[in-house]
Amino acid sequence: MPRREFLVESRFQLDSSGGAAPVTLGVFGHTGQVGRVLVQMLREPTSGTNPLRWVFGFLANRHNILWPSEASSFSENRQGDDWILILDRFQRCPGPKILIDCTADETLPKLYPSLLASNIPVVTPNKHAFSGSQSFYNRLNRPEGGFVRCHYETTVGAALPILSTIRALRESGDRVWKFEAALSGTWSFILHQLHQGLPFSQAVRRARDLGITEPHPQADLAGMDLHRKALILMREAGYQVEPGDVLLPRWIPGVTFRPGLDRELFLNDLVKQDPLWSTSILEARKRGEKLVLLIRFDVHRGAILGLVSLPAGNAFAELRPGENRLEIWTDRYCDIPLSIAGPGAGAEITAFGLFQELLRVASRVH
Ligand SMILES: NC(=O)c1ccc[n+]([C@@H]2O[C@H](COP(=O)([O-])OP(=O)(O)OC[C@H]3O[C@@H](n4cnc5c(N)ncnc54)[C@H](OP(=O)(O)O)[C@@H]3O)[C@@H](O)[C@H]2O)c1
Repeated sequence: MPRREFLVESRFQLDSSGGAAPVTLGVFGHTGQVGRVLVQMLREPTSGTNPLRWVFGFLANRHNILWPSEASSFSENRQGDDWILILDRFQRCPGPKILIDCTADETLPKLYPSLLASNIPVVTPNKHAFSGSQSFYNRLNRPEGGFVRCHYETTVGAALPILSTIRALRESGDRVWKFEAALSGTWSFILHQLHQGLPFSQAVRRARDLGITEPHPQADLAGMDLHRKALILMREAGYQVEPGDVLLPRWIPGVTFRPGLDRELFLNDLVKQDPLWSTSILEARKRGEKLVLLIRFDVHRGAILGLVSLPAGNAFAELRPGENRLEIWTDRYCDIPLSIAGPGAGAEITAFGLFQELLRVASRVH
């Protein structure tokens, strides 16, 4: 692959001082749904006013790694557990660097602290690092002796400014004491399809085909994805919470998280759930209600995740397919909650959120 294909420059020029080096980007997951769109955006910045320049240091998926910025660009096969070797080589690239993790991998986040310690910020939609132990979350947000940290706005609500808004509220002295949130774009899409009359198994498959679900849909269906988002939100709101403090919902009989379960087998097996879902939807419709999947947090009662039936006309009941909504009550927003709503899933919008976050981070690493 010729080197120039990977050298991405904004069509805008640097400011007159002009001397800033391009930021070198290392990308894990460039062949995935989100990663592919992001890399495309980075290659073809067609609009926008940001004058930054960047080059790709490496692009890696599970099998291959490309080193386009080396003297002679080349690709090689991944060797099992070669994370450290890759990152070590990346750290030796000249100039400012940013690591972008577009995987849902659980191992890679364990290496974030060493990157931060080398002044390399991490930008990622991967929820694993921020929904594990509270102490690890703290390490990533307040790395010892440094200001470089992880940036993960897109882990909750894709490109919606949810985490940054909560952070800004807290930084200005406000206190979040309650929130309600429909944050599963997958579930709002699936429930919308069910209310339109589609069988459950087909609605899930359609969501997966459109790139709305997690890489393995069981992470959405068994509640893992929502559980992770609830933890991240509560932590951003300033609460110390361990994964075991928020109970996983058990709203679908037969759907539990089984690591390693084949994706096709899982999808095929969902046909068994179709009658149950048809009945629940029919009953809700008779009551003039709609089913919605909500996270409800209150400082006194903690967080509850589950399906609720809400009257038509309620803002959460009227969510469009793929839409997310968060309502936050704070000391300053105590009567009418602060609301944030919009598309909260999908590769395009998630990549766009990552792109925006990357620009903000890149402007600070010079
Ligand atoms: N899709 C969405 O709407 C959405 C929304 C918000 C957040 N997210 C998050 O974005 C991330 C990516 O989601 P996606 O839908 O793009 O997933 P995906 O389509 O399954 O892509 C995952 C990518 O990660 C790569 N990968 C997996 N394990 C890896 C490893 N050990 N080393 C290097 N690369 C590895 C895959 O490589 P191979 O091609 O070799 O398998 C693939 O390129 C996830 O963390 C997800 O939670 C997604």
